[in-house]
Amino acid sequence: MTASHGPVGPHTTPGRKVLVTGAGGQVGLDLLQALRARGDQVFASDLAPPSGDAGLGLPWSSLDVTRATQVDALFAELRPDVVYHLAAILSATGERDPLRTYAVNQDGTLHVLEAARKFGVRQVIFTSTIAVFGPGLPPLVGDDVPLRPTTMYGVTKVAGELLGEYYSRRHGLDFRGVRFPGLLSAVLPGGGTSDYAPLMYYESLRTGGYEAFCRPDSQIPLMYMPDALRALVELSLAPRERLGRCIYNIAAFSPTAQEIADEVARVVPGARITFKPDPARQAILDSWPRALDDTCARRDWDWRPAWDLARMSDDLTPKLAALAARAGE
Ligand code: SER
Repeated sequence: MTASHGPVGPHTTPGRKVLVTGAGGQVGLDLLQALRARGDQVFASDLAPPSGDAGLGLPWSSLDVTRATQVDALFAELRPDVVYHLAAILSATGERDPLRTYAVNQDGTLHVLEAARKFGVRQVIFTSTIAVFGPGLPPLVGDDVPLRPTTMYGVTKVAGELLGEYYSRRHGLDFRGVRFPGLLSAVLPGGGTSDYAPLMYYESLRTGGYEAFCRPDSQIPLMYMPDALRALVELSLAPRERLGRCIYNIAAFSPTAQEIADEVARVVPGARITFKPDPARQAILDSWPRALDDTCARRDWDWRPAWDLARMSDDLTPKLAALAARAGE
């Protein structure tokens, strides 16, 4: 697989009716376009649907996943074949309001799975995360190391993985998911602990520099959004009989924060990046894997990343420059 295949890969099963929750977030907005491009009939939902062009001309529904009645009503109305369940509060924001994070991530996932069962959804795709892991990890982290998260976001994602596996076993729901690394794209992230990576690029372009909230030796797995989208589509289309598990690690590259800063200096000459670790967010970063082992995804559904740090920088920088220019208007 190479980048030239684009976000959707070589498979074609057009015409699926697909509902995306949390569609207004960093992954959702790009995923909507990727699904539409491959011929799916796409329905978007989020707390507050975006206005105008930002909605991509797709049908949007207001959906608060903490309300089971709302989730049931939307599933009953749309009767989707496939649901991409993205709605979640990320790790840094989550620590500011753990109870709300529990309601959105934990109750929300239960409501989506239960509605999927009741209304005959064929497949639910779940976005899990490196935040399911906790302190004391080996240098390369496989799928089945003990999950001991330290954040409410991580706790609810572990529980979401387990709940989905329960619905798969108990009710025959086709539940699949990936553990995403920190993601970089031309849509800014909302409240993650991995945000220092995209912000090094964006703030350097916007203001000439960035003070990162981590140590320069911080190291977590990262991924460029086109690979993340392709993973979501390829996992969804993989033959069930080839899948030995529901949830898969996927990996691309694992630079230190200093290596990202050096890379930003290459593509944004003169960028001034400094480091001032924030104790809370640094502790979260230190509890996450430095690198993920994605052997199972490679074996079961032929997962391969197409983007490394340097190629991503060359592709992403002009896109973020355009975003920064619009922000300055
Ligand atoms: N990007 C997420 C976060 O930082 C990790 O999945 O919370």
